[in-house]
Amino acid sequence: MKVLAILYTGARAAVQEPRLLGTVENKLGLEKWLASRGHELIGTFNVLLPILSMPDEWLLVSSDKEGPNSDFQKHLVDAEVLITTPFHPGYLTRDLMEKAKNLRLCVTAGVGSDHIDLNAAIDNKVQVLEVTGSNVTSVAEHVVMDILALVRNFIPAHEMIERGDWQVSDIARNAFDLEGKVVGTIGAGRIGYRVLQRLLPFDCKELLYYDYATLPKEAEQAVKARRVEDIEEFVSECDVVTVNAPLHEGTRGLINEKLLSKFKPGAWLVNTARGAICDQDAVASALKSGQLRGYAGDVWNVQPAPADHPWRTMKNPLGGGNGMTPHYSGTTIDAQARYAAGTKSILENYFDGKEQEPANVIVGDGAWATKAYGQR
Ligand code: NAI
Repeated sequence: MKVLAILYTGARAAVQEPRLLGTVENKLGLEKWLASRGHELIGTFNVLLPILSMPDEWLLVSSDKEGPNSDFQKHLVDAEVLITTPFHPGYLTRDLMEKAKNLRLCVTAGVGSDHIDLNAAIDNKVQVLEVTGSNVTSVAEHVVMDILALVRNFIPAHEMIERGDWQVSDIARNAFDLEGKVVGTIGAGRIGYRVLQRLLPFDCKELLYYDYATLPKEAEQAVKARRVEDIEEFVSECDVVTVNAPLHEGTRGLINEKLLSKFKPGAWLVNTARGAICDQDAVASALKSGQLRGYAGDVWNVQPAPADHPWRTMKNPLGGGNGMTPHYSGTTIDAQARYAAGTKSILENYFDGKEQEPANVIVGDGAWATKAYGQR
């Protein structure tokens, strides 16, 4: 049994904070857990802790994921189980999957499995599971924070203070209240719906959603949200758009130059779903021109984002409007405890031949098991 886990490097922080479970150093708590299940020959191997010979049964944990000589590509070839996280995605392309002859199970420690070619997983009968729900509250809170940070022009205000300046008018000229604004979510699933719930007390003018799946009437009424079926009409009505849908063929590049031109001039856009849902250059130029007043989120089309990625430094005409962070909204300490526990439970079911929790299954038995990754 070969289990390969691609996690992010925690370095000093992971040594100081053992609850950083999603790191190479703390290995999702799997090392101790597997040993406690009687797996005797557990070798751990990573860039920090190499071992020379491989036992028959091993857990390989590494953050090294790019290129043919990476631990990811070298050890995928005979791995049976692959564990990845969206925060430091090991991109499992069709080509790589076809070389991984023993691969049976991919587990996403978190939510969002678009870094795996899901159609290839279907064709190759590789199951794909994620820890559904594990970090949805973490992300919904982050979305609300990003919306407030942009609408209230918080980041330039804080930067001004650190610089030693004090010019209230430079900040106030682009600061607004969320009250009275129209906010809409693309995707009203677990995260999108939680965002709507959290926005309710802000007395927005209206809460809208765009999703091919209609919310049950009671759920719609509970958050006083209205569904808009046409995406152009939807964005043209929103002061704030938040993206909370998975990345798939139907959402890749969805927010492009054409759709951005239909936004209300000076709207705010928050995307914590996946970077590639928004066109990189179209967003940067919409912010530069002022068509977008602000853009915030933690997800990038390539992760880690290169040092010269335009989203790191893009600004609106007044020099603000950028609320980008590294991908961390769904990997708070609280979320890590939940997705580490969920990963173990998926592995336990797999080892013991038990049925998986249906909500966790994205691809199972050579077929889609979810309706969230596009209308088919
Ligand atoms: P979910 O499956 O509960 O909800 C997704 C919703 O999006 C569904 O209602 C689905 O019908 C809708 N949808 C799919 N395609 C659509 C389209 N073309 N247009 C409109 N709506 C569409 O998923 P959940 O838990 O809400 O997560 C959503 C996404 O958020 C994940 O797939 C992941 O990419 C991202 N995410 C990001 C995290 C972060 O740390 N930044 C952490 C967790 C999730």
